Amino acid sequence: MAITIDAPLDMHLHLRDKEMLKRVAPLSSDSFSGAIIMPNLVPPITTKEELISYKNRIKEAIGEDNFTPYMTLFFKPTYTKEFLESIKDELTAIKLYPAGITTNSEGGVSGFNVEELRPTLEAMSELEIPLCIHGETNGFVMDREAQFVSIYEMLATNFPKLTIIMEHITTKESVEALDRFENLYATITLHHLMITLDDVAGGMLQPHLFCKPIAKRPEDRDALRRVALSGHPKVMFGSDSAPHPQDAKESCGCAAGVFTAPIALQVLTQLFMEHSTPENLQAFISDNAQKIYKNITVPRKSVVLEEKPFTVPDKYGTVVPMYAGEKLKYSIREIK
Ligand code: DOR
Ligand code: ZN
Repeated sequence: MAITIDAPLDMHLHLRDKEMLKRVAPLSSDSFSGAIIMPNLVPPITTKEELISYKNRIKEAIGEDNFTPYMTLFFKPTYTKEFLESIKDELTAIKLYPAGITTNSEGGVSGFNVEELRPTLEAMSELEIPLCIHGETNGFVMDREAQFVSIYEMLATNFPKLTIIMEHITTKESVEALDRFENLYATITLHHLMITLDDVAGGMLQPHLFCKPIAKRPEDRDALRRVALSGHPKVMFGSDSAPHPQDAKESCGCAAGVFTAPIALQVLTQLFMEHSTPENLQAFISDNAQKIYKNITVPRKSVVLEEKPFTVPDKYGTVVPMYAGEKLKYSIREIK
């Protein structure tokens, strides 16, 4: 049986820079219509010049592919309304990282003092620029996301007109917060729909499944599956596909990130065909995002998948993907 997905969108993607960018960008741009591009480079993207120059490097890397990189800035509480007005047409969202919480986030926010954040967040509300947040405290690793829910609530209450996207949610607490605040939305990754902490560290340590936020308990994954598979209108697919060279993952001091870009459509199709419907897959992978992000235009593309085994390559360049060497049930037949 063939399944067609219209205009797949990846609302949370790491493309990196230089050789890695050239290697991984085409793996998204061939099958996706667009993606929200994360700004956690070294140094992070904080100026208009850096943002435009990065967008051009991405365009060069994807060649002729019909794909829009939706650009983001690395959040700073010092951005003024004038600055944001001057850059508004170039960007789609601003990404906030708590300081030091994940890869290249050292320059992020500490303390979450609402008055310190107010000028920038009010300007973003007025200009209708969505705020994407990596929601983790620096508490105990399994509790970081649940502890951050009170910060989401504080932001959602203080800035009711701001579109706030809880990135890569992994817990039932975040799922519950979604329905309490009109302006809270979420992305969910492929890997958090598929694995729990047991898959990472229950047997021999699996560095290629180590990421931030860390995968949680079965009941958390169940909560994520419930909203994703039902096509809940406030959740959308964001892979958080985060390539690191094999030696940075298979080492003492393993880098956080799971690389899923080239297998995401195949695995999501299998998951939805087994537990849901093609309509809900379409909602999760494109339609919801187009309603939540009112400021994007989406290139036309249709991806036809069929029930035919696809063996995941062991590596893409120096990067080991999730399910490396394993046989998936669905493969991409055609991209129109
Ligand atoms: O596991 C992760 N890797 N989580 C993030 O939030 C960032 C990402 C990366 O950039 O490698
Ligand atoms: Zn990320």
